[in-house]
Amino acid sequence: MSLFHHHKKEVHPDSGPLLHIDRVSISFDRPVLRDVSFQVRHGETVALMGKSGTGKSVLLKLIVGLLKPNAGKVVYRDRDVTTMNEGQLLALRSEMGFLFQGAALFDSMTVGQNLELFLVKHTELSAPEREQKILETLDIVGLRDAVDKMPSELSGGMKKRAGLARSIVIEPDLMLYDEPTTGLDPLTAASIAEEIVSLQQRLGIASLVVTHDLPTAFTVADRAVVLNEGFVVFDGTLNDFVSSNDPFLREYLSASQLDRARHDKIIKAIEQHSAPQEVTV
Ligand SMILES: Nc1ncnc2c1ncn2[C@@H]1O[C@H](COP(=O)(O)OP(=O)(O)OP(=O)(O)O)[C@@H](O)[C@H]1O
Ligand SMILES: [Mg+2]
Repeated sequence: MSLFHHHKKEVHPDSGPLLHIDRVSISFDRPVLRDVSFQVRHGETVALMGKSGTGKSVLLKLIVGLLKPNAGKVVYRDRDVTTMNEGQLLALRSEMGFLFQGAALFDSMTVGQNLELFLVKHTELSAPEREQKILETLDIVGLRDAVDKMPSELSGGMKKRAGLARSIVIEPDLMLYDEPTTGLDPLTAASIAEEIVSLQQRLGIASLVVTHDLPTAFTVADRAVVLNEGFVVFDGTLNDFVSSNDPFLREYLSASQLDRARHDKIIKAIEQHSAPQEVTV
């Protein structure tokens, strides 16, 4: 029997958003996020984009409570993250998975031991249950044979997969990805993007994916939120994003060399490749 008990998470149509960023502002030596609002609904994948230094990673840190905003709220399942104490934050982090920039594996432990440590910290599973869970999770990301390998023995793409396995082993409701495909060759990047889609489809996990990589955004996301100078300058479907006449968005897209023709090509390739149930672009 599978230990992934919620193979597809139930979504009640009338339930509120899973995550609500509500008028969040934060400043360091200068304002970084300014009155930022958007939502991630149950089971939905949102791509978060914008130029370097515009506050994308800061936003992810606010969501897991590693930073506190100067104003506004981060509401996860009706609970305000910004007012949680350390104990509540620890519990919250057992419901979210995150893959931050740079894979967070301990180098002195095997892949299996890395997952084991995470399960011990965040769940009450028994040792045999943990073992089964670890193998099942590695199976999902295609790394079952790497259970006894050290991180240093893995390629860059395999490390990302192992990091992904570590994040999903606790069955999160929300996954946060910070540049999951940066630094990978295009084929490996595409396979990681497909892995994200597969997690969403098989397990119903909602995701917020920070990415500069437009093919990745188009592969994984239902919606895009674009930040510029700390403001949300776009929130909508990827189709509306590429069709927009807004000068900033046009510049961002052309800098990313994503014109209509390339966009259509990518979409065609994705459709042929993975037959997604719902590419809204
Ligand atoms: N803990 C901190 N203390 C002070 N300043 C910070 C802190 N974290 C981030 N910043 C600043 O906030 C700004 C936004 O940083 P952030 O890491 O969110 O950018 P980003 O959008 O993720 O960029 P990139 O695409 O390069 O990863 C930067 O100017 C950064 O220097
Ligand atoms: Mg960043």
